[in-house]
Amino acid sequence: MDEERTLTPELTQQDAEIELSLRPKTLGEYIGQEKAKENLAIYIEAARRRGEALDHVLLYGPPGLGKTTLAGIIANALGVNFRVTSGPAIEKPGDLAALLTNLNEGDVLFIDEIHRLSRQVEEVLYPAMEDNVIDIIIGKGPSARSIRLDLPRFTLVGATTRAGQLSAPLRDRFGVILRLELYAPKELGLIVRRSAGILGIAIDGDGALELASRSRGTPRIANRLLKRARDFAQVVGDGTITVESAQTALNSMEIDELGLDLIDRRLLTVMITQYNGGPVGLETLAAVVGEESVTIEDVYEPYLMQIGFLGRTPRGRVATPMAYAHLGLRAPQTEGGGQTTLELYSNH
Ligand code: ADE
Repeated sequence: MDEERTLTPELTQQDAEIELSLRPKTLGEYIGQEKAKENLAIYIEAARRRGEALDHVLLYGPPGLGKTTLAGIIANALGVNFRVTSGPAIEKPGDLAALLTNLNEGDVLFIDEIHRLSRQVEEVLYPAMEDNVIDIIIGKGPSARSIRLDLPRFTLVGATTRAGQLSAPLRDRFGVILRLELYAPKELGLIVRRSAGILGIAIDGDGALELASRSRGTPRIANRLLKRARDFAQVVGDGTITVESAQTALNSMEIDELGLDLIDRRLLTVMITQYNGGPVGLETLAAVVGEESVTIEDVYEPYLMQIGFLGRTPRGRVATPMAYAHLGLRAPQTEGGGQTTLELYSNH
């Protein structure tokens, strides 16, 4: 994947440092995701009143929407430790056993990219989630025996880009499943202003909205664009991010009015010019644009679908008439009784 891509929602080292300082600590500070917040607040309060650990929580949705942040808020609200790890970091069942046996009563264990846990590690997780025990095998061969260890009660918060990638037995063990949605420009505008305040960046309301509306629904991207726009405002402007300096910055980065970058536009252009608008299979698209198919599915498609530029059909992806219009290309005429391509498929 292109390391330089400003719009990638995946976390970079630099983002990680900034995100730490920007990360809201309470649900009250967390902007957007109203439905998820509302439900979480109830579950957290109920667990607190009963003096129990919160049920296991699965957070899913595209990268960069604040899943780790939300997990930290849960731990904070419960007044417990927040332990962070990820699917690929837990290589062996023993790694997970070490993590679990070091937890304190009620702690939150956050496993990012939980769909990447190996089968053997998952097997250890099931009894831990269900009965707060783990079975450890001691020794090898015929003399091997299993001993059962009791664990403290804990809350597992798992995060994944797609719930469908999770094995069914794992998914079934989460009592709370919350889907995070791409943010509306208004919400992102508030996030940008909040971040600017924390980082001491001067920005006006229109400047914030301009960055927000080009951040493809993703706070991580909005915060990154904020820093780049500050560079432009300081070097070619008077230091304050206005709508003009934001536009200069975004245009220089080849991010268009809707937040699409070169790769998004290439995806759509390939579909339209080489495949007559589709349907075209995901694997074919991936090969033609030189990206992994999971990256296309997790990173590019959610936003293109949200803005109505791309649809999924059983036979593949299709570019919508809106995508043609955005790229300045003429959509093919529809046939028959005026039914448009748009009506033939749904984005959901
Ligand atoms: N930073 C990143 N995501 C955020 C959110 N949802 N609310 C406030 N600040 C954020």
